Amino acid sequence: MLEQPLHHRYFTAAIATVLTVGAAWGVWLLWQVGVAGRFTGVSIQDVNAHGQAQIDGWVGLFIMGFALQMFPPVWHARLVGRRWRLVPLGAMLAGVAIRSVAMSVPLGGSGPLLALVGSALQLGATALFAGMLALTFHRSLERLQPWMGFVFLALACFVGQVLLDGWHTWRMMMAPSREVLLAQLATFQAPLRDLQIHGLALCMSLGVSQRFLPPFLGTPETPASRGWLGLGAIGAGLLLESVLFVALRISGDHRWGAGLLLGWVLLALGSALVVLPWKLWRPTERNGRSASFIRLAYAWLGLSLVMLLLLPVYQAVSGLPFSHAYYGAIRHAVTVGFVSQMIVGVSTLVVPVTPRTATLRPVLLLLNTGCFLRVSLQISSDWTPRAFRVIGVSGVLELTALLVWAAVLLPGLLGRVKRPELSPEDLPRTTER
Ligand code: HEM
Repeated sequence: MLEQPLHHRYFTAAIATVLTVGAAWGVWLLWQVGVAGRFTGVSIQDVNAHGQAQIDGWVGLFIMGFALQMFPPVWHARLVGRRWRLVPLGAMLAGVAIRSVAMSVPLGGSGPLLALVGSALQLGATALFAGMLALTFHRSLERLQPWMGFVFLALACFVGQVLLDGWHTWRMMMAPSREVLLAQLATFQAPLRDLQIHGLALCMSLGVSQRFLPPFLGTPETPASRGWLGLGAIGAGLLLESVLFVALRISGDHRWGAGLLLGWVLLALGSALVVLPWKLWRPTERNGRSASFIRLAYAWLGLSLVMLLLLPVYQAVSGLPFSHAYYGAIRHAVTVGFVSQMIVGVSTLVVPVTPRTATLRPVLLLLNTGCFLRVSLQISSDWTPRAFRVIGVSGVLELTALLVWAAVLLPGLLGRVKRPELSPEDLPRTTER
């Protein structure tokens, strides 16, 4: 039997993560939130354990698998350090598992140390992965293009967020008092999420989409000048939103808030510059089934950015200086609506799936209904406590969508489906095994 392609192994590990310590645990957390009638009704260490599993395990492993498999052929190069190719997978899985236990099981004094061990493994995984790709690109004869700029920015954020997360988790777990814990949370959690969501997930999605959507879906390309401009805007936006937030928290000077808003404007502008030329609202030339997910994913990205820009309006209308519900709703729109839906769409392009189109329709419906319910109910919870009574259902719908998708993908991942005969013409046929 032929060896499983590299990305199949990474995708299988990502699916195992999301269906256990990722989304499944998220559903349990959301039920607890619903029963408690407040978002602070669950342990912050549990929430953060779920967060790291989703970002590093679900999103991170998927990104690693896709990049190690697809980037070397499009750079016309052989992956540097091929014999290490499964090490990032093992280290990341072990890191996620160790941190999940260390952060959620009461282990006394050894908990923080164990979490640190998990973070060290995650750091090793991301540094090796990023190093292998950087060296592969360096040895190729390719010229730097905008899509690669996005990819390298995402790689830097991947390693950077693991470092920040390891330090943040240590400080949270070692906090001597509730005040110290809340101060750490209020100052560093938002920049960490910025680095993970806008830095890693958004930049990688935009980079991959610029290079792979034209051949896979037949969409128009983003002109290079727009790509560079978009990259500059998003890079600056990312810097402003993360650094100025810490400045605002430490100084207490709300004038930094204006710079934060400028950061979000730049993120939205940069994304629009890159995405609009694809005209995703039109039917695509090929692979319509995957295109439906990708189209809706970018719609959710747009919505999350609009919601971010409207944050000051929401604060003014609601009279709340900080709405956990509104902020959480934005984050869910981007992590589930955009990032997870991109993963579902892209996976059906690069893993052979039987042509039973109907089997993916329920996934599309369940995932988007679940996400819509979660986002709308989470915001409603600021206005009526009744929203908490039904919010748990949204998580069950999303988890069911992921379960059905995993069941559709699994035969292909295990090599039981014949490879599709058509592949995008300009993607080389040689793939890393
Ligand atoms: C079935 C789907 C999911 C459910 C039911 C779920 C549930 C939850 C709940 C209840 C919380 C704590 C409350 C809140 O802050 O809103 C939370 C937080 C979080 N979730 Fe999820 N989640 C899901 C999917 C995801 C995915 C796909 C990602 C990432 C790709 C993700 C990343 C996060 C992060 C990073 C946090 C921590 C947020 C913070 O900084 O406070 N979640 N999730």
